[in-house]
Amino acid sequence: MINISDKQQMAQDKKLIIGNWKMNLDMHEASLYLHKLSKLIKNHRDVEVVLAPTVLSLQSLSLQVNLRQFKLAAQNFYWRDMGAYTGEVSASQLRGIVQYALVGHSERRHVFGETDKDVCNKVAAAVRNGIRPVICIGETAWDRSNNETQDVLHDQLIGGLANITSEELSQVVIAYEPVWAVGTGQNALLGDVRLAIMMIRKQIENLYGATAAASAQVLYGGSVTTDSAADYLALPGVDGLLIGAASLNAYVFSEIIKRAHKGSTLAKKD
Ligand code: PGA
Repeated sequence: MINISDKQQMAQDKKLIIGNWKMNLDMHEASLYLHKLSKLIKNHRDVEVVLAPTVLSLQSLSLQVNLRQFKLAAQNFYWRDMGAYTGEVSASQLRGIVQYALVGHSERRHVFGETDKDVCNKVAAAVRNGIRPVICIGETAWDRSNNETQDVLHDQLIGGLANITSEELSQVVIAYEPVWAVGTGQNALLGDVRLAIMMIRKQIENLYGATAAASAQVLYGGSVTTDSAADYLALPGVDGLLIGAASLNAYVFSEIIKRAHKGSTLAKKD
């Protein structure tokens, strides 16, 4: 029997909207964006807004940001805390600057060859440093046409969570992002997303039990726009969105945040 405590329920009621800027916006543009966005949106208690700029802008934005309004996320980091790893940044160095970190984004997996083992190490490093990892999982077009979606989600979830205890699971966010929908403008069908999210929760239940499965934070991502945001957010089990292209414009992103707020207000009235 799934049993959610009040605290867990409150965390779940809060929609998580993450803007992943990827390798876009320089430091000046990032600062202007944050200024603009803070004017455009009110501080909604039912929506947590997270910005993931390039690593270069993180430090300056961390000084500019009002943490009650927005949180910051790293797009990537290396899992060891320090050492001779030229060009890398560690989770321990990001500690205090970011509250979240993306892990295993499809571009990291498919362009930079990141494996489930890397993801697993990074998830543990983030949690050890008080940063919430957002584990991105999803099937490629090939996996999908070969009916491998369930197996891929299963393997990426088990791989990513291998070092995580049931106590630590509440620190972790899962983002379902079908690779073929990321950055392509291709929309995943609502029914397919719903099914994938159910599979993910079922897998979490197998690993950690029904309570953990019910309270886990699971997001959807992949070519989400102002028009599609509310529909994805209304799906059962979807606790938020991971947004790339549509987060690059502060006006467009603020519309999505407003829709997330409106959606949860409507849901409460039902
Ligand atoms: P997109 O990117 O919204 O541009 O498809 C999603 C992501 O990077 O997570």
